[in-house]
Amino acid sequence: MKISIFGMGYVGAVTAACFARDGHEVLGVDTNPAKVATIARGESPIVEAGLKELLAEGVRVGRIRGTTDPQQAVQETDVSLVSVGTPATDRGAPDLRFVFDVCRQIGEAVALKGRAHVVIIRSTVPPGTLARCREILEEAAQGVPVHAAFNPEFLREGAAIKDYDEAAYTIVGTDDPAAEAAVREIYAKVPAPVIVVEPAVAEMVKYVSNTWHAAKVTFANEVGLMANAFGVNGRDVMKIIVQDTKLNVSPVYMRPGYAYGGSCLPKDLSALLHFAQAKGISTPLFRAIPESNANMIAMAAAEVFRLKARRVAVFGLAFKAGTDDLRESPAVPLVKRLLGEGCEVRIYDPSVTEAGLMGANLHYIHANVPHFQRLMQEDPLLVLEGADLVIVTYSSPEFREALEHLPAGTAILDLAGLYAEAPVGKEYHALCW
Ligand SMILES: NC(=O)c1ccc[n+]([C@@H]2O[C@H](COP(=O)([O-])OP(=O)(O)OC[C@H]3O[C@@H](n4cnc5c(N)ncnc54)[C@H](O)[C@@H]3O)[C@@H](O)[C@H]2O)c1
Repeated sequence: MKISIFGMGYVGAVTAACFARDGHEVLGVDTNPAKVATIARGESPIVEAGLKELLAEGVRVGRIRGTTDPQQAVQETDVSLVSVGTPATDRGAPDLRFVFDVCRQIGEAVALKGRAHVVIIRSTVPPGTLARCREILEEAAQGVPVHAAFNPEFLREGAAIKDYDEAAYTIVGTDDPAAEAAVREIYAKVPAPVIVVEPAVAEMVKYVSNTWHAAKVTFANEVGLMANAFGVNGRDVMKIIVQDTKLNVSPVYMRPGYAYGGSCLPKDLSALLHFAQAKGISTPLFRAIPESNANMIAMAAAEVFRLKARRVAVFGLAFKAGTDDLRESPAVPLVKRLLGEGCEVRIYDPSVTEAGLMGANLHYIHANVPHFQRLMQEDPLLVLEGADLVIVTYSSPEFREALEHLPAGTAILDLAGLYAEAPVGKEYHALCW
């Protein structure tokens, strides 16, 4: 393919080199003439393993050229990839000026060219940016078709070419078949699966991916600090942690939903926080976890009040499906709060009803919701009868079945992700998806 790359920085230079190696013809565009000249000579503008060899070879076989002229770039190519910088402004927001400027330049050049063009945004941009880019491109192109996609870059400096070749996936954020086809063709030689999603999802994935990496680094460092204080080697600990790909490094627990709870997570985290304080160790990330969790519970209650629900059915009092454990269940403080605000609450939880609670479990629920037995019903239909709202706190087939008989006029607050899609004809609410 004939591809112009706008922005010959880290991303642009690596992309140009890899595209050329994979057989595409690349025209590198930058406002900085020195960078363009460097690329055109087959030299690397940055230090990156293997890059200078690929660039030199690309220039030698005539597959890499450079220009400072955006019009020439659009005229001589079918696709433009935008990899200009999106630096942080003083207030932290990304500065999207360079991206929008380039889109305007490309759109104007497309109008002059008079033929359809594909534009791929590769810079890291927040959700909604591709939609804005499209508006700019379409306005400037004056009726000439422009097909746009967002295609995030996941390379790490220092391992950029390896990361390009061994990408986990190629993400294409678009609903435009021509743009999708172009991205697929560009990466035909990269053996990664192609995931096509709506642009805003793809844009968000890039931010989440970097936030996740930052959280992992910070988490591991706080583990290291705690481990040191116990005279343990934190690296030994983390080496074992990452070997569990069932629960630790896996999709488990990685789905937006409701607060965590139960007899172990809150207790053990609280123990670690206790020792951190006792040993004078600063672990702000660990400390923020229970705070964020409590926030989810507060948000669930606030949502009930926002919906002005007075008669509330709660499906699930235990902390998860298949257990009668009520200790630290995030449903308990929610029920307590709703009762405190004068809501009429009825609860359905088959495991809890059957169980005949005892010991610490019974003590916990009595301490929090003393008359909870009176709120519980074995028949879910009785729980639903006359309810303004049903809150689902965990996922279970019984709940789904019972909700088939949801009375007209009863809304759902699905904290568990019981439904992948909002059920048709129902008033459906959720907190974080
Ligand atoms: N560096 C990384 O490891 C990395 C990885 C993934 C994604 N990203 C994202 O990719 C984007 C580019 O990052 P980078 O590190 O390559 O940036 P960079 O600052 O190294 O390069 C950006 C280039 O764009 C050029 N430019 C600015 N305005 C231009 C215009 N109007 N026309 C042509 N060129 C123009 C600049 O002169 C510069 O050479 C950013 O959004 C960044 O967040 C970077």
